[in-house]
Amino acid sequence: MTATFSFTREPLDTGRGFPSFVPSDEERGQEEWAQFLRSGNWIEHDWTSYYRLMTGEPVKARPFVSHLCHFAADTIHRHGGLALEYGAGPGGGLSSPTLLKYPGTPYLISDLSTEVISQWRDLYRKHPEYAPAALAAFDACDMPLASDSIGVVSSYGGLSNIEGDRVRAIGEIHRVLEPGGLMIAAEVYVSEEDARALPPTVRELFQNRFPFIFKNYREECRAAGFRDIRDEVIGRFSTATDSSTVADMAREHGVELFYTQYLRLCTK
Ligand SMILES: C[S@@+](CC[C@H](N)C(=O)[O-])C[C@H]1O[C@@H](n2cnc3c(N)ncnc32)[C@H](O)[C@@H]1O
Repeated sequence: MTATFSFTREPLDTGRGFPSFVPSDEERGQEEWAQFLRSGNWIEHDWTSYYRLMTGEPVKARPFVSHLCHFAADTIHRHGGLALEYGAGPGGGLSSPTLLKYPGTPYLISDLSTEVISQWRDLYRKHPEYAPAALAAFDACDMPLASDSIGVVSSYGGLSNIEGDRVRAIGEIHRVLEPGGLMIAAEVYVSEEDARALPPTVRELFQNRFPFIFKNYREECRAAGFRDIRDEVIGRFSTATDSSTVADMAREHGVELFYTQYLRLCTK
């Protein structure tokens, strides 16, 4: 399966072996994240876990992750066209399980951080048989891609981790998808019911500091023009087994926050 595409504007930098559309002042804000990824060798670590998971080796993962990865890989591969992963991060989102199960699936892997993309470049140089068609650094809120040009936009924790205007990112995803194109997103949020179970004062603290964890952006997807929005709840987990700033704050206040993990499929 092949898919060709071109960018709609000139990259700001091409010296790293992939195009970067990220201005250097924005890159400077990413240094801490880059340092964290480098020091923990997280990309290699996460990719190896996906490798084990997709080849049926035992791996420490939440129970629903295997089903999610196989289902997503099958869906993305079957849909066809060029697939785009945004906010790929250390795990590569849904591109990793898909390329491991179906090497050669035409994928463009992207992230705002040039360091993340540099590390994916290095990883795939070591494993060219699983390499994507292209890598690029750009902002999901302002994609250098033509309208109606992408078959599938995928993400795993992409939307909920976007720095910037998430509603704008949803609009961009809708714009670049071709008619009939698929958005597939594995995301988590704290449902209204789980939020109500928190002591009111603690709930208010979380709502003020991390308002986005209570949102699933379903209405925003509908408003952007997506149709047939299907959300499948695939699991739940809590801050008790999580390491994040939200989990740290939950521990500090002696509460447990429950996340609903869901997979959203919708079409343009
Ligand atoms: C924690 S990761 C999300 C999980 C990731 N998909 C994975 O599988 O590991 C968040 C990523 O989103 C990227 N990011 C943040 N804001 C972004 C934006 N506006 N556009 C594109 N990527 C963004 C960050 O650089 C980071 O690598």
